[in-house]
Amino acid sequence: MIAYSFPMHIRPRRNRQSEVIRNMVRESRLHTDQLVQPLFLVDGRDLQEPIASMPGQFRWSRELMLEEIDRCLEVGISRFAVFPVVGEVNKDKKATYGHAPGNFYLKAIRTIKEIYPDVLLIGDVAMDPYSKDGHDGLVDAEGNIVNDETLPILAKMAVAQAQAGIDLIGPSDMMDGRVRYLRDALDEKGFTQVGIMSYTAKYASAFYGPFREALDSAPKSGNKKTYQMDPANAREALREAALDEAEGADILMVKPALAYLDIIRAVKEQSRVPVAAYHVSGEYAMLMAAVKEGWLELEPAVTETLTCIRRAGADIILTYLAKAYARMLRSHGG
Ligand code: PBG
Repeated sequence: MIAYSFPMHIRPRRNRQSEVIRNMVRESRLHTDQLVQPLFLVDGRDLQEPIASMPGQFRWSRELMLEEIDRCLEVGISRFAVFPVVGEVNKDKKATYGHAPGNFYLKAIRTIKEIYPDVLLIGDVAMDPYSKDGHDGLVDAEGNIVNDETLPILAKMAVAQAQAGIDLIGPSDMMDGRVRYLRDALDEKGFTQVGIMSYTAKYASAFYGPFREALDSAPKSGNKKTYQMDPANAREALREAALDEAEGADILMVKPALAYLDIIRAVKEQSRVPVAAYHVSGEYAMLMAAVKEGWLELEPAVTETLTCIRRAGADIILTYLAKAYARMLRSHGG
C-alpha cells in the first residue's frame, strides 16, 4: 500500500519542471577546461591517417597535428595527451628510441610548446610504443615483465620528455614504485615543476584494442595481466592510489572510465589530489559504431557519458570526444 495520504506535499518533479529550474539544480557540470584530448603522433610529412576502429581520430604528422591543436584551441580545448606511433625499425627490446635524441615525438613536443606555450601537454611514459615485445615493461629471457629493471628506462623517457618541454608526464606502465622513481629522476635533473599524472588504477581491459591498433603496440606474446589490474578488484585500486599519492603523484587516474565509475568515486573519496578518468579507445569505438548505425544519437549520448564520469568524481576526463563535445557546446551557445 502507498504510504501517501493525499494531497501529496513532497513532489520531486517540481525541480524538473522547466529547463531554467533543471539548469539551476544540476549537480554536475562539465567545463572544457576539464577535458583532455588524446592525439596520436606519427613520424613523417602531411600525414592524417584515419584509424578504422576510431572514426574521427587520426594519426597526425607534426605539422598537421599543429593544425588540429589549433582547431581544438578554437573551441576551448587546450590540454592534450600525446601518444607516439613508432615504426617497427625504431623498436627494440629496451625501448631505446623512447629517449633517443632524434626521437620525432620529443621533437614534436618541443615544437608544440614553442608555438603554443600555453597549451598543456601530457606525455606518455611506458615502453610499449617503442618495445619489440609490445609490453609496457622490460621482458626478460623467460618472458617475465621485470619491474625494477624497467624503472631506469622509464626515468630516461620521463627526463627526455621534460627536456623537450612536457608539462605533465603520464606513466601508463603500472610498474611498482615508478612514481617515486620518476619523481626523483625529474627532480635530480632540476625538473621539479614537471608534474606526474599517474595511471594509478589502470585495469587489464579489453577496451584498449583500438588504441593498440592505432599505435600498432599490442603485446607480441602474453597479455598485460601481471602489471595492469584485475577488473574484478576495487580495494586494490585504493592501495595503488595510496601508494601513488605517497610517492608524489600530482594527479591520479582511473582507466577505463565507464565500467569503473565506482573506482573513480572511491579514489576520489580516499585521496586529496585531483582525479582523472580516461574514457578509452574501446569506449569511444562502441559509441561511434552505434552512432554510425543510427542506433544512438551522438550529442545526447556524449553529453550523458561525460557528465556521468564527472558525476562519479572525475575532476579531469581524457576523452577522444573532447573536441567534439566542445564543438557541441559552442554550437548551443554554451
Ligand atoms: C599503453 C597505453 C594504453 C593506453 C594508454 N597507454 C594501452 C595499453 O595499456 O595497452 C590505452 C588508451 C586507450 O585505449 O584509449 N601504455
